[in-house]
Amino acid sequence: MTYQEAFGTSAEYMGHSPFSSHKLAWRSFLEWRWYMEDLVKAQRETRLLGQESQNLLDSLVAAGDDEEKGRISESAILGNIWVFVLGGYHTSSNTLHFIFILLAIHPEIQRELQKSLDEHFGDRPPSTWTHEVDFPALLNGHLGAVIAETVRVFGVLPFIPKSTGSSSQTLTLDGGLYTVPAETTILINTSAVHRNPKYWPITPPKPGERAPFPVSNWDPWRWLQIESGNGLFNPRPGSYISFSEGARQCIGKRFAQVELCAVLARVLKEGSIELAVKGGNSEKGSLDWAQARDHAIKELSDGVGFGMSLELFGKVELSFVSRD
Ligand code: HEM
Repeated sequence: MTYQEAFGTSAEYMGHSPFSSHKLAWRSFLEWRWYMEDLVKAQRETRLLGQESQNLLDSLVAAGDDEEKGRISESAILGNIWVFVLGGYHTSSNTLHFIFILLAIHPEIQRELQKSLDEHFGDRPPSTWTHEVDFPALLNGHLGAVIAETVRVFGVLPFIPKSTGSSSQTLTLDGGLYTVPAETTILINTSAVHRNPKYWPITPPKPGERAPFPVSNWDPWRWLQIESGNGLFNPRPGSYISFSEGARQCIGKRFAQVELCAVLARVLKEGSIELAVKGGNSEKGSLDWAQARDHAIKELSDGVGFGMSLELFGKVELSFVSRD
């Protein structure tokens, strides 16, 4: 499918629009395609040379060359790259951004997390850490709890768009049966689901916090069930939909969890994240600690909005310091 088929020729008019934002969008659209075509070409050449490379791009290129199973088209390869870049980049990076700030606001939680990493890894250097041994332990412990709680309170998709499609659908709500007509668009309000006190009890504000800022309800240890040996708390179906549920749930969930565990374990084993404060490690800090914390908490409420995903538009200065 060409871009004309996908978007109609009207999309081309953006390039002739008097608005610079339209021109930029059009140029980005074209350039992104050219970059990706170059990447696909390079990956194809690597394959032709018989060089091993196990990555997502290689799987897509292989599917494009698979005569036996039926090739997927060039535009399907580009479309899939687009979905993975769109779905995979902003989601994990913004989640990481929120986690860094939340840990800086809550040094006591950060210390407990670092203690759990020290207990798990001991003196083993990162070069010996493995997906098979270390990832399941991290995901089912303190680190997994911090990630799960952050995507609950600061879920990257505050709403998930769905459609009933060509036929009507029935749903049960509080014992009543309802019919939703065909071709109806439904927005599932993830934020509201994740704040329903029936499933997610409100945590009293921690010292220095002022409700109702969402950060006051960020309580990672609510997920830990270590005493009972069950790993993390298993929420009731439908009450935790950060990665959605069902056939179209996030295909990159495990990828995101591995990525976040790897980055956070590495950063926090060797360093700490602090709010930049006056006289502290960062030259930029101009506030004392309590002021910097209040500012960060406020930004996590007022400064958060939706761009490509939920993100912090406000500014919070952080320092990364060595634990030595
Ligand atoms: C914290 C990280 C992430 C969160 C919270 C998240 C969440 C979601 C959600 C809520 C959906 C919508 C599912 C639906 O429509 O029912 C989705 C879809 C998707 N995600 Fe993620 N995602 C994350 C990371 C990633 C990563 C790292 C990748 C790729 C490597 C990825 C790839 C995708 C794709 C391809 C879809 C579309 C799936 C489909 O329509 O069948 N996501 N994600």
